[in-house]
Amino acid sequence: MPDSPVPSLIPRPARVEWKEGAFELRRTTRILLGDASPETARVAQYLAAKLRPAAGLPLPIAKASARSAAKRCITLSLSGAQAGLGDEGYELEATPDGAAVRASAASGLFWGAQTLRQLGPDFLMGERPAREIRPALRCCAIADSPRYSWRGFMFDSGRHFQSVPFLKRYIDLFAYLKLNRFHWHLTEDQGWRIEIKRYPELTKIGSRVDPGEQRHGFYTQDEARDIVDYAAARHILVIPEIEIPGHSLAAMLSRPRLCCTGKPVKNPGHQRDLYCAGREETFEFLENVLTEICAIFPAPFVHIGGDEAPKERWRECKRCQARIRNEGLKNEAELQGYVTRRVADFLATKGRRIIGWDEILDSGVALPRDAIIHWWRHRTGGAEAAIRAARQGHDAIASPNSYTYLSFPTSPTPTHQLERTIDLPKIWGANFTPDGLTAEERGRILGGEACLWGEHELEEEIDYKVFPRLLALAELLWSPASRGQGFADFYGRVQRHCRRLSLMGFAHGPAFRHVSEAE
Ligand code: ACM
Ligand code: ZN
Repeated sequence: MPDSPVPSLIPRPARVEWKEGAFELRRTTRILLGDASPETARVAQYLAAKLRPAAGLPLPIAKASARSAAKRCITLSLSGAQAGLGDEGYELEATPDGAAVRASAASGLFWGAQTLRQLGPDFLMGERPAREIRPALRCCAIADSPRYSWRGFMFDSGRHFQSVPFLKRYIDLFAYLKLNRFHWHLTEDQGWRIEIKRYPELTKIGSRVDPGEQRHGFYTQDEARDIVDYAAARHILVIPEIEIPGHSLAAMLSRPRLCCTGKPVKNPGHQRDLYCAGREETFEFLENVLTEICAIFPAPFVHIGGDEAPKERWRECKRCQARIRNEGLKNEAELQGYVTRRVADFLATKGRRIIGWDEILDSGVALPRDAIIHWWRHRTGGAEAAIRAARQGHDAIASPNSYTYLSFPTSPTPTHQLERTIDLPKIWGANFTPDGLTAEERGRILGGEACLWGEHELEEEIDYKVFPRLLALAELLWSPASRGQGFADFYGRVQRHCRRLSLMGFAHGPAFRHVSEAE
């Protein structure tokens, strides 16, 4: 009898029916291409590369023929899936005679292949075959599609640099969890991380702002393109973020004329300097930077930040005040609206929609209708920003900080008090689509992102912050709104997945908040 443990699927599929028995992978098992498209072949290659080492089997890829189709093979096909599953949906059927994944688009086929990997024993996630256990996939019939179309993760590479291999390791894991957006926070007060050919000093000076080797570094344009391609091969879109107008001290250190005083000052806490909105050369600079960014990143979106922009410099700056007068603006809040609008209009000429943190709703200046609002201020504003965005007709992405900021610890620390802790049950209880919206407004909540801010995150600490909590976010973003069998069932699956994460080379931190006697 082949080994057929009860599969532990994360994220939970929309519909799954478990059947008796298992499909045992053997030396004769092939991965069959059910159609001639190169996309199906690419999914097959990815799946084979993932399964071969642990299965200890050759798993050759071959074209399907009527004769071979049913004989102990894995068949991938871009035809024959039921209607209505969408581009990311798929059907997966496993019987003792073989397994088949069907979808109407390559992304659905790819996500189906990820589910197929999870149907086997844990060792199938590792690098080596298990002695005396044959790799077998539990029989089932699955029809699945995601709840949200935007399922993301944000790395703050501005405050701490992460190496390209480190990011690729994570991108592969995002694919395993069916996350389809990598939001790359590339510029910050503490670091400018992306090569801009026209302004080499941005990275020469701006990538070494804070002391400490681990924080230094930048991505060449070739490396960034490599990340884009690597992610695209895993059906993940990379969205660059260039912060405007605040959080940009690193740019000003090499180009002081970008800020109002011409002398950027590094403060111990939140930085006061921001791009001068009165100087034309600020816009010339931003347009040149964004032109290169659009040439590197093909995504139809550019995240332009917009959060926490302090206004005192603009209040004191004669050029900014002249801009306010000449443009008929009321105040510095409207001046930020002017900057956002100008940058958005420029990006529109490149075919890009802007995404901005939810402060971009606050300026009093109308945003382009297609601007996407990134809701984050939950601790201070609850769901207000998401509701406002959806009611004003904007698409929105949910990263409510009380639930999705994985830089917040699981248990209280001297710097993070109880209300800033996030444990697994808390994330499990999150709601990304606020109550009180109409059906049309609810449809504007595209999905959400987990955010890993980098104030304290060295590479070797990141796994502990991300896991197992990202498992809950992946499930919230993909699985149906109903909580299925409840938290206990989910937690059982998390425990299995923690073993799988170890086999994939990832560490994990605690799932639950530690309750001390003092609390
Ligand atoms: C943010 O956390 N400042 C977006
Ligand atoms: Zn100014």
